[in-house]
Amino acid sequence: MNLKESTAQIGTSLRSLLEAINNKPAGIAFITDESEKLCGVVTDGDFRRMLLNGKTLETTLGKSDFGDYVFAKQGESVQDLVKKSNKKVRTIPIVDDQGRLVDFFRYDHRVRMIPVAEPDLRGKEYEYLSDAFLSTWISSAGKYINQLEDTFANYCGVDYGVAVSNGTVALHLALKALKIGEGDEVIIPDLTFAATANAVLHAGATPVLVDIEPDSWCIDPSEIEKAITTKTKAIIPVHVYGQPCDMEAIMGIAAKHGLKVIEDAAEAHGAEFKSKRVGSFGDIACFSFFGNKIITTGEGGICVTNSNELNERMRLLRDHGMSKDKKYWHEEVGYNYRMTNLQASIGCAQLERIEKILESRDEIENTYVDLLSKYDFIEWQPKLTDRRRVVWLVCALIKDGKRDIVMQTLRDNGVDVRPFFYPLHEMPVFESYHHSSERATQLAYRGINLPTINNVEFDTIAAAFEKVNSILKNE
Ligand SMILES: Cc1ncc(COP(=O)(O)O)c(C=O)c1O
Repeated sequence: MNLKESTAQIGTSLRSLLEAINNKPAGIAFITDESEKLCGVVTDGDFRRMLLNGKTLETTLGKSDFGDYVFAKQGESVQDLVKKSNKKVRTIPIVDDQGRLVDFFRYDHRVRMIPVAEPDLRGKEYEYLSDAFLSTWISSAGKYINQLEDTFANYCGVDYGVAVSNGTVALHLALKALKIGEGDEVIIPDLTFAATANAVLHAGATPVLVDIEPDSWCIDPSEIEKAITTKTKAIIPVHVYGQPCDMEAIMGIAAKHGLKVIEDAAEAHGAEFKSKRVGSFGDIACFSFFGNKIITTGEGGICVTNSNELNERMRLLRDHGMSKDKKYWHEEVGYNYRMTNLQASIGCAQLERIEKILESRDEIENTYVDLLSKYDFIEWQPKLTDRRRVVWLVCALIKDGKRDIVMQTLRDNGVDVRPFFYPLHEMPVFESYHHSSERATQLAYRGINLPTINNVEFDTIAAAFEKVNSILKNE
């Protein structure tokens, strides 16, 4: 946008005003008098209203044709300019001491699409982070690491927490601590993020991909039973999209067959099965604190367990397999999977507000359901009795075959969306690990994740879905 091209003089005809507005992305013209003093601002909406009120393209404009408008004085800070702008007022003319138009400020509240995820950092995150920074304990020792490990383990209702650098290595560390590797099979769901399978493969074991339950979308216990062989050593149930797995059935199967259980709770902080938090069922449970997760440390993860032996072993492996009593004496070939105190400080602040964060995510989902349930092409993620599902990303299922048109239309109208995970067995890197997958495949191609952030612009979302609706109706 160019100041000169977007300025029209008082006394000009509506036709030349239209030229000033037309084809400028801002859709706005500034009106000045003969001495370049600003007298008004006309948007394309104002222009349409003038025509509706009987003016023609040849009508000339006088000072009385302009109402109130927002402007700023030269020298105002960018912060003040941002404060003056809002969703309706995006372009603000700037005048000098004499009121002459000298510049403009444009603030695009949403130059990008409404994002699917955005961390909520409105608590003490910055305070704790700067405290960690100023303490100079910026590496992997410091008070926030211990605090995060203790408070998160406590939150899950277990005894020990081992903070690590991300959720994928949390799974790998858990597998290594349980001595699962070469020649072992680990049963995992076909519908999960690839990290679950990758961790098993990096441990040297073989993932076995099984189908999901139709209602919870989580690993189906009866499919686990069918996949058990003499090589099976462990099950990794994934509480996918915030929904707890049937942990009673899974723990029963594990006990019957002598299998280890590692919960993959990367997407389900705070979820409960029969009033017991996820993370407290398996031998070890792993969480992710990636930036799009329910709570975050930027990158990060944690393993929680009730076993002191596993806790000690994970600590050893996390730190190069180095003896905790003898510096630089390595008992095993380990890893550097440590989290930094800086990351942990953010996590501590997040954890203080986790219930509020979960509540606000529930509200976001409820608003979507209220707003969009009138459309028969959408179905929502089930809520099951006996399980507290948490909202990681709002999940919707779209009528068969229409998912991709819906995603494209939403994106074209400023709303970002994500497809569900592809069923793992469909990807060449994982296809040889397929066991069963019918329901995972049906579901995966219908699912989308909608923006799950604070202050979602529901008016933009409603308008985008209205477009979707009319496209689907006219097909
Ligand atoms: C189910 C599941 N497992 C594991 C992970 C891995 O977590 P991270 O991204 O922190 O490595 C994720 C995260 O994206 C996930 O969704």
